[in-house]
Amino acid sequence: MTHPEHDRRRTMNRSVRRPLILTAAVALAAATGTAALTGWDRTTADAQEPTLHELAAAQGKYFGVAADNNEIADAAYAETLGSEFGWMTPGNAMKWDATEPQQGEFAFDRADEIVAFAEANGQKLRGHTLIWHNQTPTWVQELPADQMQAAVDEHISTVVGRYEDQLDHWDVANEVYDDSGALRDSFWLRTLGEDYIADAFHAARAADPDAKLYLNDYNIDGINAKSDAYYELVQRLLAEGVPIDGIGLQGHLIVGQIPDTVQENIQRFADLGLEVAITELDIRMELPADDAKLAQQAEDYGAVTEACMAVTECVGITLWAYSDKYSWIPSVFPGQGAALPWDENLQPKPAYQAIRDALSGSAEDVPATAIEEHGRLAVCGNNLCSEAGEPVQLKGMSTHGLQWHGDCLNDASLDALAGDWGSDIVRISMYVQEDGYETDPEGFTARVNGLVEDVTSRGMYALVDWHILTPGDPNVNLEAAKTFFAEIAETHADNPGVLYETANEPNGVSWADLKGYHEQVIPVIRERDPDSVIILGTRAWSSFGINEGSDASEIINDPVDAENVMYTFHFYAASHRETYIDAVAAASEQLPIFVTEWGTQTYTGDGENDFAMSQQWTDMMAERQISWTNWNFSDDMRSGAAFTEGTCPDGPYTGTTNLKPAGEWIRDQIRNG
Ligand code: XIL
Repeated sequence: MTHPEHDRRRTMNRSVRRPLILTAAVALAAATGTAALTGWDRTTADAQEPTLHELAAAQGKYFGVAADNNEIADAAYAETLGSEFGWMTPGNAMKWDATEPQQGEFAFDRADEIVAFAEANGQKLRGHTLIWHNQTPTWVQELPADQMQAAVDEHISTVVGRYEDQLDHWDVANEVYDDSGALRDSFWLRTLGEDYIADAFHAARAADPDAKLYLNDYNIDGINAKSDAYYELVQRLLAEGVPIDGIGLQGHLIVGQIPDTVQENIQRFADLGLEVAITELDIRMELPADDAKLAQQAEDYGAVTEACMAVTECVGITLWAYSDKYSWIPSVFPGQGAALPWDENLQPKPAYQAIRDALSGSAEDVPATAIEEHGRLAVCGNNLCSEAGEPVQLKGMSTHGLQWHGDCLNDASLDALAGDWGSDIVRISMYVQEDGYETDPEGFTARVNGLVEDVTSRGMYALVDWHILTPGDPNVNLEAAKTFFAEIAETHADNPGVLYETANEPNGVSWADLKGYHEQVIPVIRERDPDSVIILGTRAWSSFGINEGSDASEIINDPVDAENVMYTFHFYAASHRETYIDAVAAASEQLPIFVTEWGTQTYTGDGENDFAMSQQWTDMMAERQISWTNWNFSDDMRSGAAFTEGTCPDGPYTGTTNLKPAGEWIRDQIRNG
């Protein structure tokens, strides 16, 4: 395993975090450049620590807080309220019972006061909430359908219209599902039917075309039946043209019980085109608090914050009050509390520092890319080794043929492969025949050159594969191979991330002839790029000759006359089982091996997956530090293509939504294996 999991999460965020700033002065400068900047007087800020919001804003996100009127009247409390946070949510002041207690009698004093406080402190605002089964007056609940609909329309147009210039978000519909994933049995549903949700969004959009309109709920922070229900609902409503912009995960959580799928959940909604916000974060515990619980709480706040930071579309985090002094928890969950990052005396708790750490990361926290970590690779003994001489195991994906599935290789998919998948390496498969290289040598050479750049600039190694297959004797294509590799090596000689694979799957050719081929191609590369690793196809579809009745001894006894080379082995786990695993394990004692192609199914790249056998293979390769690239990163119809057919070129390529079973399994192996 190249990175521990927590580092992997950060790797995924690499592009966002890279410009990260750690001094107060620079953080402030970065924050100043964002639209989310708050405007309070920070002229002496460069002498101070950056605030939570400044740390978040330096990474394009906000950090906010909810407040009620009594809280802004508490001067000591209001000081931090107005300075540490960049966004404000009225905790109660914009709910229906506050804004329209009697039909047609609107009351905005409380809401206005919160808005004025936020504006005085340069804070943006989230409106909360329009349609909810709680804190809505009885007069609304008792109306018949047509009158209730009219009341909703009037309420939304009046309230949203009034704050059109002040609010950036609205929680339009709050808590419309129950925990089982069924629509909540509320007076809204009973009276208006389920269209009440879509209708509320349309009304809100009509009243404020610019505010981001949100669904919002609790217990949808991780993946579960209830968040699945939202996932379905959002897809349906978006398809119907309902103007939903975001989903709010309330984040009313329990110490030690943070779902481990928060980031994945955020990502899947992001992949639907929504923005995501954590809207009401608090993490409660059984009282009394003690050091162990506070330490766990700190870890939990850090984890939730990191999950948001790791997904570009997660726009920000709001605490549901900032100190235990004003938390709603003890009144609703008897015996529980201490849920916020500041205690009742407004003193920061360990959670506060954990949030800061998660928001800022640090230069050391940003893991190196594979290329940064390992540098220019070289063979040492029978291993692939880093520039520092340490054995490394690279894990990654092979493309399918560029001539067929080139549309699966674009900025978004390569970002996903580097970030979400955590791939160390990409094998670029340049078919020679089958409508490949021979049909357009210049065009394909340019394409491979571009891909090498795209892959290595993302920190992944690029393995350039001369994908001969039929005819199986690579000597037939020798001149073309020399031309191709000369051009690639010339172009990338200074790039430490390039590896070469001279012949994909030779077949029907003797080892002597194959070896002769390698010994002619290697010097062409070495002349231009003297230090790169070159990987050599082996006989019988890169099986060390086994599939044509021989074995690795033909190579061991008569190796290719060159330094810094490795030999390929290819397998498909449902076809090539224990005897092959044993053969490769034994050969790895005597040969440097790179598995440049393998699949979890049969050798056709299709059919049933055998994940148990695949696991035996990956375990063996991990133990022996044998690097691999899996076949394949495309949306080909076969079971061995990671993505479902039709996924390319639009994606999304992150998360698991568009993955076939083999894709999901292999992504997991690369991320965590
Ligand atoms: C809470 C407030 O904080 C309390 O003051 C009030 O008595 C009840 O509501 N989900 C929501 C919030 O969307 O509006 C709720 O706020 C907490 C749960």
